[in-house]
Amino acid sequence: MLPIGPYTLRNRWVLAPMAGVSEMPFRVLAFKLGAALCPTELVSSQGLMRLSPRTMRYLRHDKTYEKPYSLQIFGGEPEVMAKSAVVAKEQGAEIIDINMGCPVKKVTKTGAGSGLMCDPPRAGELVRMIREATGLPVTAKIRAGWDSANKNYLQMADVLGAAGVSALAIHPRTRAQGYSGSADWSCITALKKHVGSKFPVIGNGDVKTVADAHRMLETTGCDYVMIGRGALGNPWLFRQLNGGEGPTAEERCTVVLEHFRAHLKFVRGDFKPRRPDEYSPKRFERAAENAAVHAFRKHLGWYAHGLKNASIFRNDVNRLETAAEVLASCERFFLGAEADAREAEAEYDVDYRQALG
Ligand SMILES: Cc1cc2nc3c(=O)[nH]c(=O)nc-3n(C[C@H](O)[C@H](O)[C@H](O)COP(=O)(O)O)c2cc1C
Repeated sequence: MLPIGPYTLRNRWVLAPMAGVSEMPFRVLAFKLGAALCPTELVSSQGLMRLSPRTMRYLRHDKTYEKPYSLQIFGGEPEVMAKSAVVAKEQGAEIIDINMGCPVKKVTKTGAGSGLMCDPPRAGELVRMIREATGLPVTAKIRAGWDSANKNYLQMADVLGAAGVSALAIHPRTRAQGYSGSADWSCITALKKHVGSKFPVIGNGDVKTVADAHRMLETTGCDYVMIGRGALGNPWLFRQLNGGEGPTAEERCTVVLEHFRAHLKFVRGDFKPRRPDEYSPKRFERAAENAAVHAFRKHLGWYAHGLKNASIFRNDVNRLETAAEVLASCERFFLGAEADAREAEAEYDVDYRQALG
């Protein structure tokens, strides 16, 4: 297994960076259940320079479990990116991952995210300057290209390889495709063939099951498999990929509650009023709790995926306001929950833009 910079990972399974999802509590859970690498969601290089409160939230990590700690940054200007990567290193980052795939317009119009696919020399400059400024391994996550007429992932691999990238993750859809259609795994095969053992390739896209992950490894020859939506509500997938079992109803309930408690602590930890006099102390506590509960509702919906009466539970979840209500509702639903084949087949969409806010 090719290492990523100085890091020999314990297996081939990587949690995808997901805005609004891959926060510290979920990353820690994925690590505990067997993921080998869990990069953060995309963090703005401009925000890092200012160490804004919102950015500080993304920088929080747990050294006990997050080994190595990979921080994904986005931005279009090499100097700003290099300076912000130094800040990231000071805050504990051990790997800097550059987002070259985000399709959202407010990101691409600044030349960042998948906008970098249109300017390979600048993308290479980013990698080189960040490496030189930090001395850290630098990885990047790309798409197949901007659109079907411009699938330049092999050119990107050449440029980024020459700049010293330590690993390249590819989500083989074009920017124009967004999340529609299916990921074209033949790009992963071509990429791995092209770069050989120069650096590891992390394949990504549409892996939902253990069988999918093994099929990706076998058919494309990639070094690592990155899983995003397939891990939503199902972090046990990582344990199963390492030969372990899926959860019992009791364990599912315990883990959902563990995740919720960690999430509550995480949100409370940096909850701030918009104005100093916005809340009384008591009201402040309640507002922080409400914010945590609201942000956790999506996880509850995902955890219910594939279980009997999931749709009824999801309706109830949208009315939850307090931590006590979440705990009671989870115990009622998950402790007795049985698998349901029809629910398991139901597709559920995740809107990337919504997650980005
Ligand atoms: C809600 C959501 C948020 C995402 N945020 C990011 C992000 O911050 N950085 C990034 O590189 N990709 C992001 N992605 C893309 C995923 O990392 C991944 O490439 C994509 O979901 C395809 O993999 P999958 O089929 O396993 O989900 C996001 C995807 C989703 C669904």
